[in-house]
Amino acid sequence: MHILLVGSGGREHAIAWKLAQSAHVQQVTVAPGNPNMQNEAGVSTVDIAATDLDALQKFAESENVAMTVVGPEAPLVQGLVDQFLNAGLRVMGPTRAAAALEGSKDFAKQFMSRHGIPTAQFETFDNSADALTYLQSHSAPIVIKADGLAAGKGVVVAMTDEQAASAVRDMLDDGAHGAAGARVVIEDFLVGEEASFICLVDGQTALPFATSQDHKARDEGDAGPNTGGMGAYSPAPVVTKSVHEKVMQRIVNPTVQGMAADGKPFTGFLYVGLMIDANGDPYVIEYNVRLGDPETQPLMMRLDSDLMELFNATVDGALADASADWSDDAALGVVLAAGEYPAGSSRGEVITGLAEADATGAKVFHAGTQLDDAGNTVTAGGRVLCVTARGATIVDAKSKADAAAELIHWPNVHWRRDIGYRAVARLQSASTSSNG
Ligand code: AMP
Ligand code: GLY
Repeated sequence: MHILLVGSGGREHAIAWKLAQSAHVQQVTVAPGNPNMQNEAGVSTVDIAATDLDALQKFAESENVAMTVVGPEAPLVQGLVDQFLNAGLRVMGPTRAAAALEGSKDFAKQFMSRHGIPTAQFETFDNSADALTYLQSHSAPIVIKADGLAAGKGVVVAMTDEQAASAVRDMLDDGAHGAAGARVVIEDFLVGEEASFICLVDGQTALPFATSQDHKARDEGDAGPNTGGMGAYSPAPVVTKSVHEKVMQRIVNPTVQGMAADGKPFTGFLYVGLMIDANGDPYVIEYNVRLGDPETQPLMMRLDSDLMELFNATVDGALADASADWSDDAALGVVLAAGEYPAGSSRGEVITGLAEADATGAKVFHAGTQLDDAGNTVTAGGRVLCVTARGATIVDAKSKADAAAELIHWPNVHWRRDIGYRAVARLQSASTSSNG
């Protein structure tokens, strides 16, 4: 089979790497991909933008692609799946109507309140006067969210009333996020520990993937600005068996059933961003309609099952009879970012040490890299690489990933040395208490 994979980041590199290992897959073409992905056997790229739906459709038709798989949210919210299904093409992902779970925060919140799914109290506004009046009776900490897709930048966790008011004015009066911020959701601040809960869904049934957690803040100690994710690991010890059961019962199953009952059956990856409170009760922070980046990188390193078989079961509505096998090993990925990230990116700086990092047994997934005229791998983005390793425990995986990351250099590289600290602390306190 020839598979078309849409996207270009570290997530897509990890999906392509895993798909190319499938007994059913001869070739994976990534659009637009990244030149360094072509170092994987069976992986090539084609210069088509992820949001150029017509060109993607033409490629899928002319190359006899057996299935198209979509990495990022933008083409899903744009309606790639609807267009491909109308053309009779096999495609994995949610339709435009189902992708609104990520594409509109207001849609997601209304959906959750209709179906009794636990999430923060909220109100939606399209004018600043009403929103500012609401803020007078709802004080900080409070969270202001642009309704539409804002490339991960549309959420302000306001710790003071002034920050909340200025976020409202920025979005509703000054068009900070354009049309995406023409409506805002204001919601209560939730306290607890975050985790990523990712499932494959075939319209009726959800198959949960292994648990994972990411670090969204740029700097060590979870300080500094919010980013797309500076590192991730799997499993997430905060998701105990009891939390897992609650998430399936209270959130995932009602979401899948609710979407089907509303006439928008959900197919593809459903990623629930969770806040887990001190009692182990989970709340939805957000839905994503795709795999997480960088959660995918450690997840793919732990997946023992054939990924293509899981994708086929999803598209065929056969997940009730499918299962996913995971290594007992843990995996952890460290993002190497440009010093300018998230405000800016880096271009053209030569990256050294890639082969040395690979030689340690870690896997280097490429996101913002390119080849220069001399054939050097150079920086070309904000998040540049994700160095991922497996180990018997999170501590072990972390020390391998960190050691490999230390070998990689460019002038203004930035990465966090503390990825996984919460999991490490949890494991250490568990072993202290079990040792007596
Ligand atoms: P989102 O894009 O909705 O995932 O929000 C980005 C980040 O903002 C999340 O990962 C949380 O750290 C934080 N956040 C969002 N909503 C809330 C909330 N209601 N309470 C506390 N933190 C939140
Ligand atoms: N790592 C967060 C996300 O993919 O949205």
